Amino acid sequence: MTDALSLDAPAPTRPDGVDADCWLACIDCGATYPPFEAVRYSCDDCGGLLEVRYADLPDWDAFSGRGVWRYADALPFETGRTGPIDPENPAGVSLPEGDTPLYEVPTIEADLGLDRLRVKHEGMNPTGSFKDRGMTVGVGAAAAVGVDRLACASTGNTSAALAAYGARADLETLVLLPAGKVAAGKVAQAAIHDARILEVDGNFDDCLDIVQELANRGEAYLLNSLNPFRLEGQKTIGLEILERFRDEEGGFPDRIVLPVGNAGNTAALYKCFRELVQAGALDRDDVPKLTGVQASGAAPFVEAIENGAETVKRWEHVETRATAIRIGEPVNAPKALPGVRETGGTAVAVEDEQITAAQRDLAGEGIGVEPASAASIAGLRKLRQRGEIDADERVVCLTTGHLLKDPEAATAASDDPEPVENDVDAVLDLVGE
Ligand code: F0G
Repeated sequence: MTDALSLDAPAPTRPDGVDADCWLACIDCGATYPPFEAVRYSCDDCGGLLEVRYADLPDWDAFSGRGVWRYADALPFETGRTGPIDPENPAGVSLPEGDTPLYEVPTIEADLGLDRLRVKHEGMNPTGSFKDRGMTVGVGAAAAVGVDRLACASTGNTSAALAAYGARADLETLVLLPAGKVAAGKVAQAAIHDARILEVDGNFDDCLDIVQELANRGEAYLLNSLNPFRLEGQKTIGLEILERFRDEEGGFPDRIVLPVGNAGNTAALYKCFRELVQAGALDRDDVPKLTGVQASGAAPFVEAIENGAETVKRWEHVETRATAIRIGEPVNAPKALPGVRETGGTAVAVEDEQITAAQRDLAGEGIGVEPASAASIAGLRKLRQRGEIDADERVVCLTTGHLLKDPEAATAASDDPEPVENDVDAVLDLVGE
């Protein structure tokens, strides 16, 4: 890990030759670039991942308004615009997004024997997943650099969000999906928002290989989470959790548990915490422990954490009912592994049956989530059973996508509807008087 990714790293200083308030920096070699001068997803010098850095990092009192753009001072644009894009005056493209519920879940909380458990339901965003937070910034960045074709590889939610935000910005969108492995609701979203959908005979990682090559050849602007602007928007999940938890619970949560696919969200939450520490808005000791959960059939990130490895080894064969996280190579691992380790968190793999049970537990509290989202609760349960999480910890689980994204999984997890004659007595016979 480079020093810049340490929780003790000093706040960045503006590099020579950059006069904008933010810039791109390579997390490996430290090379810096102006933010919107050219299309760039990785370091020209060493190929490392880029991240956005800021000359001024805001404290809590800088934030006002609602949703993602409440946190504009921590983002590359001053605002998100709900109207048409204006190339002269770059801004985010907003639907709007964020401001999602932080539910109490008393039954699950008691069942797990935890003092405090809240669920941050990102399925309540405009297209039904946390990806909208990334897209409001990422599509704004695309407009700022002046591209006209947007592309992503996706297990489904990114494609749904890209299609909607692309439509809003009036930009062409191209999405590559692993054939037969994307939940119906997500394909329907991409289709109705008029993305060009290509189904690839391969898995998500193969789709991402192709999209990266298209982007390198200048054929499309990449809006996967390798795009550093996307992760800026996703930082706001962390900002919202911390602010609301502090206001409602009188302190920050001890731990945040979330599903891991490409580890973009894990990287984004860690960056959020690091910047708050650098701004003096969060004590280092108050940083929540980042805890990642994967399905056991697609768990290369968990493997790396368990083995203490510096890098993640790609799994060529992945399988899970939680198709959103059916991913063999978490491309943001260089940003996310330090996040888990520096915060004192961990990572755990869960079986598909445990994911389905957790999905039903959440449904029993009135919260509808897709399978990948329920992995967070399943992982928390496993860590509690193993004694790795104490009863007095205050925990937030992130649920990343809405139930209706994957109607087949919901149906498979539930009892079948019962046919009945078109007659009151027949209905009463069935349900009892
Ligand atoms: N949960 C859901 C519902 C997702 O759609 C994803 C990722 C994740 C969790 C994992 O997040 O990649 O930041 O670790 N979905 C991507 C997609 C890959 O294409 O929609 P991550």
